[in-house]
Order: sequence, then C-alpha cells, then structure tokens
Amino acid sequence: MATLADPATQFTRLPHPAPMAVDARGAVLADPGFGKAFTDHMVTIDWEEGKGWHSAVIGPRGPLSLDPAAAVLHYAQEIFEGLKAYRLADGSTALFRPDANARRFNASAQRLAMPALPEDLFIAAIKELVRADADWFPSVEGGSLYLRPFMIATEAFLGVRPAKTYSFIVIASPAGNYFKSGAPAVSIWVSDYTRAAPGGTGAAKCGGNYAASLVPTAEAFARGHDQVLFLDAAEHRWVEELGGMNLFFAFDDGRLITPPLGGTILPGITRDSLIALARDEGLSVSEEPYSLDAWRADAASGKLVEAFACGTAAVVTPVGKVADRNGDFVIGSGGPGQLTGKLKDRLVAIQRGTAPDPHGWVVPL
Ligand code: PLP
Ligand code: COI
Repeated sequence: MATLADPATQFTRLPHPAPMAVDARGAVLADPGFGKAFTDHMVTIDWEEGKGWHSAVIGPRGPLSLDPAAAVLHYAQEIFEGLKAYRLADGSTALFRPDANARRFNASAQRLAMPALPEDLFIAAIKELVRADADWFPSVEGGSLYLRPFMIATEAFLGVRPAKTYSFIVIASPAGNYFKSGAPAVSIWVSDYTRAAPGGTGAAKCGGNYAASLVPTAEAFARGHDQVLFLDAAEHRWVEELGGMNLFFAFDDGRLITPPLGGTILPGITRDSLIALARDEGLSVSEEPYSLDAWRADAASGKLVEAFACGTAAVVTPVGKVADRNGDFVIGSGGPGQLTGKLKDRLVAIQRGTAPDPHGWVVPL
C-alpha cells in the first residue's frame, strides 16, 4: 500500500491569497480564549482503499466540500487528537510528545475501523502547519498554538460498514485558558449519564464520545459547574474522568491515585506525563479504582488534600468542589493546593523549555 516515504518533502504547498491582516491577528492573539479563532492554513491528506495515503497539501484554511452521503455525517466515523505547540523562552517553537498523540490517533483509528496513519506523516503534517502559521502564537501568558488533527470518513455510501475513503486534516487555533471562569479551582457535577461502557469506545478519541457528553455537560453548566464527571457504567460508583480531562487525587500521606486505564477512559498524555513527573519527585502514584463515596468521605476527613484535572487543553486544574444530586463537598481549602501547583509548574517548565527535559518529551520545530 502506498505511503509517503519521505512525507516532509511530499507536501504540495499552496500560497495563501489573503492571510489575516497583522492588526486583526494581533487582536486575536492578545485574547485567544479556547477554540474560538483559527489560523490561516490547514493540512489535508487523503486515503483511498487500494491506494493508501496520498495528496498531502498545506494550503489556505477553508470550508470542506463533502458529499451529503459522506459516512462521517451519518455514522460518525471520526477521530481526533489535541496537542499544543509552544513558543520557548529562546524564541524557538516545540511540540510536546507528538509521538504519543500519533500512537493514540492510530489506536483510535483501529477502534473506529479507520486506516492507520504512519506516525512520521502525522508529525510531519503538524510540523508543516506550525511552520506555515508560525506568526499565530498567542502573546498572552500561558498561551500556545493548539493543534487539532482529525480524520473523517468521506465515502458517499449509506450502508453500514467501514468507509473506503478518508481525509486526514490538521487545523490550528491560538489558545489561552480553557476555563472561561478563570477561577482558581473548578467545580464539577457528577452526571447520572454514562460516558463509556466496557467494550465501547471510551478509550478512543472519537467525536461520538463527545456528542454523547453534551447533554451532561450542558446540565453541569446549567447548575453552575465548570465540568462534568462520569462514573463507571456498570455500578455508577467508580470515578472515571471528566468530559475532557483525567483526574488525580492527592492524600495527606503523600500518595497520589488516578483511575486505571481499562478501556473506558481516555489514556491522557498529560496523565501519563504527570505520573512520571510525580514519581520523579519520589511520590507514590497508583492507578487504582476510587469511588465517589470514598472521595466524599476522604474529603470530609481531610485524608484527601487535593484533587486535580489534567489534559492538553486544561493543563493542570485544581478541583475545588464536587456536586451530585445528594449535595456537594469541598476538597481541602476549595482552592489550588501545593502539590497541584508544583506538578503543574514542573510540567509547564518542561513544555516551555525553562527546565531540563529528562524524558525527552519536547520535540523542537
Ligand atoms: N479525557 C478526555 C475525555 C479528553 O478529551 C482529554 C483531552 O484530550 C483527556 C482526558 C486528556 O488527554 P490529554 O492529556 O492527552 O490531552
Ligand atoms: C484536549 O485537551 O486536547 C481535548 O481534546 C479536550 C477537549 C475537551 C478540548
């Protein structure tokens, strides 16, 4: 099957006829928020059965042309990734663990019956885009260029089977803080809905998982919370993850717990990085089930001192309050805790090149 042997040299580069004016771009970059603004360019690469990946193009960002019968529009055959490019202190730019995103993308592709994308092609596409949109790094503190690679089934066919044609696309969005509230700690609502069941698609980053989370998320917002928490499907007892983040719990004896990867939660790259960094600090981290009842009891007794959410978009965000139909409870002081702050600082320092990178996570551009 044809793959692009040397992908970096195979991109067709189409000049942009009218990139955003410098002043307008400057205004966007001064207050980017999250996911609201987009850069000038995008990458597209197509796949066809019997032909493989072909026609890699970097060109002006613009609307897609899809047949109304395209499989993605009917059966949601779609996967995506989320990663960030950072401007480092010395003015250069870098990616954080893009190889891990490439691997997870292919794990998602396999679950959604989609073709694998060579990891070097995934990374080459991202590098092309960041180079083309190098003027799009936000000027705000904590800003980055959020990259959204995704794959859609494009075949016009209404029978239910894996499609025979796909497009891989990468877009970019200047990003500031994920949480609008800017609150020092977030408040979460424990949903009655289920996100993922054993044997389902919970470990895949597919759009369908997020579609199913929108009603629970809207409910959390309507009740005044920042995020939704999902429990396990079978017993509705074990903490799984938030709508778009993994969770950690810190105890007064220095232990950290995070729910185990068992096929129903997303294997977060931030989660994996924090496990490694916490162990580097000499902390004991265990991936073990933790129930909502234990969380409530441990918060009340003071045994649980901090809880935090983590993900590419949210970085590391303290969880201050948890609510369900039975009432709410506060963790620690309800504000940011010391360990959360320390782990966040360690991670961000590596991502931004202000601290050594002992695990070799940073990929210069
Ligand atoms: N869980 C869900 C459901 C997510 O959408 C995300 C975000 O990508 C995460 C966890 C965190 O994953 P990562 O750290 O790789 O961004
Ligand atoms: C990310 O953190 O990259 C995600 O995809 C989460 C999404 C909810 C914004």
